[in-house]
Amino acid sequence: MHVSGSVAAFKACELITALRKNGCEVRVAMTAGAKRFITAATLRSLSGHPVLDDMWANGTEAHGMGHIDLGSWAGVHVAVAASASLIARLAHGFADDAVTTSLLATRAPLLVAPAMETAMWEHPATRANVEALRSRGAHLLGPVSGRLASGAEGDGRMVEVAAVVEAVLALVRESTG
Ligand SMILES: Cc1cc2nc3c(=O)[nH]c(=O)nc-3n(C[C@H](O)[C@H](O)[C@H](O)COP(=O)(O)O)c2cc1C
Repeated sequence: MHVSGSVAAFKACELITALRKNGCEVRVAMTAGAKRFITAATLRSLSGHPVLDDMWANGTEAHGMGHIDLGSWAGVHVAVAASASLIARLAHGFADDAVTTSLLATRAPLLVAPAMETAMWEHPATRANVEALRSRGAHLLGPVSGRLASGAEGDGRMVEVAAVVEAVLALVRESTG
């Protein structure tokens, strides 16, 4: 699981617990932006694994490339609450932090659940980035219309955690045959 700097990042906590209840082992990477909203300690406690939040930390592996391990370990990757910035970086193949590098160093399916204000979601740049991800096979889930962090109503609200769980489990079933 990959967590980025949207207000809805806190929903990653509930998602980890729900996925584990459904039999998934969850390992988490987070962006510097995500750390402005939730802590690595919380995600570590809930997942039961160290959180990859610094590409340059030595980690536990001898080769010191936790992003390569996470990229290849996961059967399915899920990015929540995917920020406009993360979507842009993924669309352009950036590998500039633990999350984007792990997501470039993988052949596993990617599910993206965006969360942002309506103007960001509807911006032509975001639309193009989303289409680029879709055209490469990424699965976009939501966002939906509803109350946003700013208090406004509109498109951009992250889908419910239950919907993400369902989509992840479907991809797991697909990838394990
Ligand atoms: C209070 C606050 C709330 C924010 N909420 C969002 C959000 O919901 N969605 C989003 O795409 N960006 C949001 N941003 C902007 C991102 O946090 C910013 O683009 C950041 O660089 C994202 O980094 P990351 O994608 O590497 O996590 C917010 C910024 C602030 C200061």
